[in-house]
Amino acid sequence: MPDTQLNVLVIDDEEIIREALEAVLTGEGYHVRTAATAAEGIDRLGDGPVDAVLLDLMLPDRNGLEVLQDIRRIDDELPVVMITAFGTIENAIAATKQGAFHYFTKPFKNDEVLVVIRNAIDRRRLVRENHALRDQLQSDAYRFDELIGGSSRIRTVYDLIARAAPSRATVLIQGESGTGKELVARSFHRRSARADKPFVTVNSGNLPPDLLESNLFGHVKGAFTGAVFPKKGLFEIADKGTIFFDEIGNVPLETQAKLLRVIQEREFMRLGGVDTIKVDVRIIAATNADLKALTKDGRFREDLFYRLNVILMKLPALRERKDDIPLLVQHFLAKFADESHKRSMILTPGAMDRLMAYDWPGNIRELENVIERAVVLCGDREIGVDLIPDHVSSDPHVEVPEVVIPADGIHFREVITGHERKYIEAALEAAGGVQKRAAELLHIKATTLNEMIKRYDILPRRRKGTGDLRDEPEPGLPEDQGE
Ligand SMILES: Nc1ncnc2c1ncn2[C@@H]1O[C@H](COP(=O)(O)OP(=O)(O)OP(=O)(O)O)[C@@H](O)[C@H]1O
Ligand SMILES: [Mg+2]
Repeated sequence: MPDTQLNVLVIDDEEIIREALEAVLTGEGYHVRTAATAAEGIDRLGDGPVDAVLLDLMLPDRNGLEVLQDIRRIDDELPVVMITAFGTIENAIAATKQGAFHYFTKPFKNDEVLVVIRNAIDRRRLVRENHALRDQLQSDAYRFDELIGGSSRIRTVYDLIARAAPSRATVLIQGESGTGKELVARSFHRRSARADKPFVTVNSGNLPPDLLESNLFGHVKGAFTGAVFPKKGLFEIADKGTIFFDEIGNVPLETQAKLLRVIQEREFMRLGGVDTIKVDVRIIAATNADLKALTKDGRFREDLFYRLNVILMKLPALRERKDDIPLLVQHFLAKFADESHKRSMILTPGAMDRLMAYDWPGNIRELENVIERAVVLCGDREIGVDLIPDHVSSDPHVEVPEVVIPADGIHFREVITGHERKYIEAALEAAGGVQKRAAELLHIKATTLNEMIKRYDILPRRRKGTGDLRDEPEPGLPEDQGE
């Protein structure tokens, strides 16, 4: 039974079809409205909430395809399932190309109708959740400049930026790779009085000290072979603005000494020069290493560490703020759909479960890449588990219960099939009886699941009042033990 009252509108000119559908659907707990013509159907649509429409392709007053277009104009996300007679299947396929959710042919099987309706309504629920996330993305409570997230961990970050940005205090941002250190640095700049002055990034990594220093401080003409023209350094370029040292831990020790001097004196000399140049810059440094530990090894100057560590901003890893994943996913879905000129997409609950279960060692950057790949490869609107990379999907922490073998042994096959059966039943339960989704949850093919359901004679979820008298088989004991 659906948990809340769900409404289905049936538009078909044949009374016998309307009655049959109404009986099947009300039997399953849906609230059903019916209409015999296109005009009446559109009227009924306005009578109250509708969660899905069953629409005959051949109506006396109008063609079902036109009605489909009208309905989609009224509510683009309302799932419409076409009802078609044998012979007109091409039209039904055309209808799905024009946005119908699915179709089935007359005469139909009740189970088939129910599964299609359930899937259609699930899809609508997904789309709604999706819209809710989209609304959240617009709201200040869930974002801060370019940073997305509403978790308490990330709000602490927003708070600190808001409070410390206006000052000139040096900031040290510490966080694993891909946690957003650069975005945070930009946000500090943007929220300061320096916002309209330059924001200059220094990639401190793997440059030889000479080159790094000539980049930072500039040089005079003739300072070294090849220095044909004088050159401004990044400190001068960043004057009145912000200079951001990415991976400060990689700066060589000798350059660290010079940096310390600039921080203390706010002045320096170009390479080969004699004049002191004064600059007014705000310094922000980022590291994914533990700088404190590097000072103990003598790889980072302790005095520089204390100079940088005036305001310490620790960025949480994504696994520490997993409740932000759906919102980030939504953000990246929109971003990449836009970039590849595709219609907005949604993730199936199965796919979202995988993302929520994963540890994200590469943090937001890794999540961003996974979503980009899925959007690029996705052929329609839904991103299912098949588009989530294997290493994200496979859960390394599968818990296997402690096993004790009694003195007289066990019947291995029975125990294993008993387990299989329990997991299948649990997955079917979790999937609301939809086999395709249950198969997703179990990471197996739908055909394999179907075969196992038959083999173990697992009953569909019993419907209230259908008088199904078959006995539930004893749990854990498959009926066909004959081997
Ligand atoms: N809170 C966030 N909201 C939205 N996007 C984010 C967020 N944090 C990071 N990103 C995105 O994730 C990617 C990595 O962010 P960024 O480059 O700032 O991380 P980083 O910590 O500097 O990583 P690295 O250590 O690898 O340099 C970027 O594409 C950035 O736009
Ligand atoms: Mg970075």
